[in-house]
Amino acid sequence: MNYEYRNIFEIPCGRGFDAGAADTPDVDLGEFYPEEFIRDDLGPLCDVAEAEVVRHYTRLAAMNFGVDTGFYPLGSCTMKYNPKVNEEVANLPGFAAIHPYAAGQDAQGALKLIFELERYLAEICGMEAFTLCPAAGAHGELVGMLLTRAYHGSRGDDGRNVMLIPDSAHGTNPASARMAGFDVVAVASSDEWLIDLGDLKKKLDERVAGMMVTNPNTLGLFELEILDVAKAVHDAGGLLYFDGANLNALVGRARPGDMGFDICHVNLHKTFSTPHGGGGPGAGPVGVAERLVDFLPVPRVAKEGEEYFLDYDAPASIGQIRSFVGNFGVLVKAYAYIRQLGAAGLREVSAAAVLNANYLRAKVAKFLEVAGTAPCMHEFVASSAKFGRGSAGEIDKALIDAGFHPPTTYFPLVVHEALMIEPTETETKETLDAFAAALEKIVSDLSADANAYKGAPLRAPVRRLDEAGAAREPILTQMMAKGAGE
Ligand SMILES: Cc1ncc(COP(=O)(O)O)c(C=O)c1O
Repeated sequence: MNYEYRNIFEIPCGRGFDAGAADTPDVDLGEFYPEEFIRDDLGPLCDVAEAEVVRHYTRLAAMNFGVDTGFYPLGSCTMKYNPKVNEEVANLPGFAAIHPYAAGQDAQGALKLIFELERYLAEICGMEAFTLCPAAGAHGELVGMLLTRAYHGSRGDDGRNVMLIPDSAHGTNPASARMAGFDVVAVASSDEWLIDLGDLKKKLDERVAGMMVTNPNTLGLFELEILDVAKAVHDAGGLLYFDGANLNALVGRARPGDMGFDICHVNLHKTFSTPHGGGGPGAGPVGVAERLVDFLPVPRVAKEGEEYFLDYDAPASIGQIRSFVGNFGVLVKAYAYIRQLGAAGLREVSAAAVLNANYLRAKVAKFLEVAGTAPCMHEFVASSAKFGRGSAGEIDKALIDAGFHPPTTYFPLVVHEALMIEPTETETKETLDAFAAALEKIVSDLSADANAYKGAPLRAPVRRLDEAGAAREPILTQMMAKGAGE
């Protein structure tokens, strides 16, 4: 495969598909859009032969690294293999072609699926009820924060404006809390990289609305004192929020509801058979304990007799947080996955995910420092700090040449030169061994020569990219890309 990237605008103009002249009247765009949004500097677009277009996009697709092409141990992202059969199920015309405005009697199957998935997730998480509307984990967090606000408000307890968040938390946690108007206060990690209960107690007072906790935390460690954390937060009048992005470690075995959590979100696009990353779509359903059910967003699917319907009648609800009922295709895949595996299968998922992580951890711990004491849960965080600043990035680039996707790097922030490795349950022992061997060789080369991989990656479609520049000044259109090159 020739990987060379050519902007489609650099392909010589030729003859593409010709649909003939339109026999519909010209549309005056000004009737539909404000003048300032109408651009006349966009055309004319050059015709490109159909075969060239197909080759262009096929080449682009082959340049992409995905979980279907190789090992992808991107910590906190659960890049596991997602059974293709579930894509087939979601693509069944009865699901894929259903119109969001379909009348209730024409959508009974879809409504039943939503109703039952809500019950499954409630059972898996030990919660009273769920909303399936949120479109992502971070969206679920925001919904959870709005629910927290509504709960305290309904009790006239309006002075609670502080959200406590451990210093190892995922960045979306403080961002979501801020979006909902809370002041964020960090809770320190202990020497064992768990929540420091002493520090937490110092920060609990009548201003605290709640605490957001990821369990296992972002170091892949189970919060052993979670029951004490829950009691302390509740005694202070706060609610406890569970960031369920790491549910793959617990599914079928331990439930946030039983740990004392009042609200939780689940990333269906991690644990439940939708690929994570690549821009979605995903789904971040939010579950709540009984005292919060009335505040859940609308609509919810309810059942009267044998009939399912969308229920908007919820006076205390925080309102509608997304169009319609959520990302339905993602819900179908989660439903199919849960029904295929059943309770015993889900228990095997978490068992194998934790076993794989501990197997790899034991191998990696022979040549890199690993944060926290074993055992870990579904992931672990190694550190290359002893090889100096920037070494984690060098390891990443070298891994690409070895055929592996790099782990999550420089996160969590509390570990210097962090490499967060999550193998997931769907990888074989051979793959884990090959990854550990590649990592060991890279580390050994770097310890002999810090510049050993300065030019890496050499075997990828693109060399080292300006990652900061790409984030700060993204080129979002082909037209801009063309302009930039001229
Ligand atoms: C621990 C944790 N919390 C929250 C999120 C946010 O989820 P999403 O990317 O679906 O918004 C992630 C995402 O990877 C995560 O790892």
